Amino acid sequence: MAEKANSTTASTTAGLRGVTAASSTISDVNGEKGELIYQGYNIHDLAQHSTFEEVIFLLWNKRLPTAVELDQLKRDLSQCYALPSEVIELMQRFPREADPIDVLRTSVSALEFYDPYARDLSREAAVRTAIRLTAQFPTLVTAADRIRRGLDPITPDPKLNIAANFLFMLRGERPLAEEAHVFDVALILHADHELNASTFTARVVAGTLADLYGAITAAIAALSGPLHGGANTNVMRMLLEIGELENAESYISRALSEKRKIMGFGHAVYRTEDPRATHLRGFSRSMGERGGDTKWHEMSLKVAEIMRREKGLYPNVDFFSASTYYMMGIPLDLYTPIFAVSRISGWTAHVLEQYADNKLIRPRAEYVGARDLRYVPISERT
Ligand code: COA
Repeated sequence: MAEKANSTTASTTAGLRGVTAASSTISDVNGEKGELIYQGYNIHDLAQHSTFEEVIFLLWNKRLPTAVELDQLKRDLSQCYALPSEVIELMQRFPREADPIDVLRTSVSALEFYDPYARDLSREAAVRTAIRLTAQFPTLVTAADRIRRGLDPITPDPKLNIAANFLFMLRGERPLAEEAHVFDVALILHADHELNASTFTARVVAGTLADLYGAITAAIAALSGPLHGGANTNVMRMLLEIGELENAESYISRALSEKRKIMGFGHAVYRTEDPRATHLRGFSRSMGERGGDTKWHEMSLKVAEIMRREKGLYPNVDFFSASTYYMMGIPLDLYTPIFAVSRISGWTAHVLEQYADNKLIRPRAEYVGARDLRYVPISERT
């Protein structure tokens, strides 16, 4: 008979809630106040005044860039937009029905073979790799989408910033300035979020002194789950299933009575509105108005009102981004890869920070299994 383990020596905190597992200057979440800062700057200021490229510099360097430094970073990034032809050829062999987030994960892993500095973990080389990865994510995601549609990937335009270039490579035509701006701010809002599941994953892998490609490949896998970055796609699927505004009340009440989680609500840290959702709610409205269809925005507001009333839960970053991207005509299953196009900046910042003062991350488990069992030869087992 299995004997219950003695569990007095360790205690666990489910899901590591409230456990501080790293020191970092990169970002901080105040769940009670609904506040998010990157390297000391409030996300609202950055969303209003900054650009994604400037935020990338900030996350990697702990300070805002000078004009010369920002120009240099933009040049470095744009020179790395293009993918090695071997990786495009590899992507062309993937099944057409493969999920784009999985295509991104596998392609990022393959990119390592074509980066001569991949295994060099010095700050200088790791920053160079971080630039390559951050520059290549939009090219990978849009190439994945075009290849599955039987189209050739669009060659990136080095004159465009990351946001405008993404929309250009997705559609084959330059985006309007307003759309490119909305997308740029969405990238700022998703750039970093303290020790979320994918960032923690990246740090754990980097902590073994594996290279950046390994850490980022693992982070993409963590992001893909529906409880993390996969939520935004599922939000839009839900809105489409609801179909009409008047169905929202009965749909949500049935889902809650069946104990289903409503995607895009709740958060492990925030106990009030996620400050990122505040901006995305505005974009969901403006993109709806621009496209002449505010139905999805109104339905989102209705669902948010019901969730507040019934569960006391607020929308998180994934809720209003869904209707925003939908109104921009972006395919649903690209929403999570877009999250990665932004979060690569935070993941790489965390990996750089981890390398700079590394300690292998190796917690303990509370053993709750059997002990002192007698080994029975297989011939005697019943
Ligand atoms: N819909 C319905 N109920 C929810 C909910 C949601 N989205 N999120 C949390 N709850 C409820 C749980 O059912 C639970 O209720 P109970 O105590 O009656 O069982 C309670 O709130 C606590 O939920 P729990 O999952 O333990 O909280 P958590 O802090 O571990 O969860 C999330 C955080 C993000 C995983 C969770 O809110 C969730 O699954 N949200 C949906 C997925 C999502 O949007 N993820 C993106 C996060 S940015």
